[in-house]
Amino acid sequence: MSALTALPAGIAGPLPAPAPGWAIEADVVVVGSGVAGLTAALRCAAAGRRTVIVTKARLDDGSTRWAQGGIAAALGEGDSPEQHLADTLVAGAGVCDERAVRTLVTEGPAAVRRLIALGATFDTAPDGGLSLTREGGHHRRRIAHAGGDATGAEISRALVAAVRSAGIETVENALALDLLKDVNGRAAGVTLHVMGEGRHDGVGAVRAPAVVLATGGMGQVYSSTTNPAVATGDGVALALRAGAEVSDLEFVQFHPTPLFLGPQAEGQQPLISEAVRGEGAHLVDAAGVRFMLGAHELAELAPRDIVAKAITRRMAEQGTDHMFLDARHFGAAMWQRRFPTILATCRSHGIDPVTEPIPVAPAAHHASGGVRTDLAGRTTVPGLYACGETACTGVHGANRLASNSLLEGLVFAERIAEAVVADAPAAGEPVLPSPATGGPGLLPPEARLTIQRLMTAGAGVLRSAASLAGAAAALDALTCDDDRKPAEPGADTWETANLRLVARVLVSVAQSRTETRGCHWREDHPERNDARGRCHQIAALRASADGHQLAVHTTESTAFPDGPVVP
Ligand code: SIN
Repeated sequence: MSALTALPAGIAGPLPAPAPGWAIEADVVVVGSGVAGLTAALRCAAAGRRTVIVTKARLDDGSTRWAQGGIAAALGEGDSPEQHLADTLVAGAGVCDERAVRTLVTEGPAAVRRLIALGATFDTAPDGGLSLTREGGHHRRRIAHAGGDATGAEISRALVAAVRSAGIETVENALALDLLKDVNGRAAGVTLHVMGEGRHDGVGAVRAPAVVLATGGMGQVYSSTTNPAVATGDGVALALRAGAEVSDLEFVQFHPTPLFLGPQAEGQQPLISEAVRGEGAHLVDAAGVRFMLGAHELAELAPRDIVAKAITRRMAEQGTDHMFLDARHFGAAMWQRRFPTILATCRSHGIDPVTEPIPVAPAAHHASGGVRTDLAGRTTVPGLYACGETACTGVHGANRLASNSLLEGLVFAERIAEAVVADAPAAGEPVLPSPATGGPGLLPPEARLTIQRLMTAGAGVLRSAASLAGAAAALDALTCDDDRKPAEPGADTWETANLRLVARVLVSVAQSRTETRGCHWREDHPERNDARGRCHQIAALRASADGHQLAVHTTESTAFPDGPVVP
């Protein structure tokens, strides 16, 4: 099945930006500095490749630092990659690529041990082994954690230290704009804009024949998300503009239990880790009723989509905007030892989990889809690679299993480094984007809020043909030009353009998936349709006479086994 949708003018072309005023030469440029980006950079540098990391804020400012619960791997007594595979496939609701999952779960344990050898310190049990916890969808204790509930921060600390001691060149506060290509359509670097002071300033370029996208997620497409402000879908938008294929974008995971800060709360919301439920916290309504009992055999530890849906349903039934997570029975000492970050965060918002239930409500958390890659991180554009949340390896299917994402970032970043070294991509002279100082395509920065609200209302936890059609029409109607006050190129307007593009593609593929599966919940198609639904929706932009079209086709496998497809 394939379909073409005409997109409004200006939504999909290269970002209007001045011509690069400076350039760095490298063998590999890694865009992003979470677990995936830093791991890929370390591996490429260790293989002798001149590597440059470009990151939007500081080296340790990505999503990884916010990960609380941990990293899943079959490391415990009696556990096995086969069992981890089984749990991942169940959570993925029939859409995982089994080869990708098998790669993840078999290579995962050794990758975690290498991370420990590199300097990451995980919590240990009294016998000196790793302390492992459970999260939703896992039938075993297999989540390794650090600092109680500060796993991502510890992984980030260790990797940043390793990158610094390896002397890898980094360009911080830099928003990657567009892919540079040579005349043959191969990746040849990126253009970027450095904000603030530093050795480089303004728009420049990193010229490199291998470009690794590891920019994290796109949670900021919604009003409320657990993702940091930098998660604006930049890598997916850049890849789309470069002609790469994306896959599974309709599958956005909503975390069931971010802290509820009130109906007006927008932007990044504090996470209450699933590990809190893993250690025995209960989900209750305002009357104290445990509504997950009887809803699923794993109750509060059902896969995340099931818990998020149960909460959303209960809220609708009771006409309220939040439920509660009750972990008073942990007692003060356990809260302090096991979840010090969450305890401090709750208290800073006036809630004491030791004495009262925590108000919670679902928020956008993780993009299960992204830039389509093979098992070595190659995208459909030669020389362009993607890993971590930016990529769609096929591991997550319709719903990511908890704590599989740090592992995915590690395992597939290591594989990308091997592929970059093996492929030894070569690029000709980049064809520089023509200098432009504005023009169509940019929305005023205020449009960001509009996009987030449209997406939350139309393409959030619960979707329907009408809500999606409304979101699509409203996104298309956002006007680029105000003659009195044209939107100027700049970080805000470029990010807003990225948000709009990924939002628009997400809405299109959510429209054409007329079933309910994993974290894609269609009110008007409440059943899973296994005859048609076990497929991936692959989307790509195509230039047309009057602008751009979005081409969507379906396929059985996210992977393209024969290597990159030349566009
Ligand atoms: C959490 O700690 O609940 C988040 C873990 C994850 O998203 O994998």
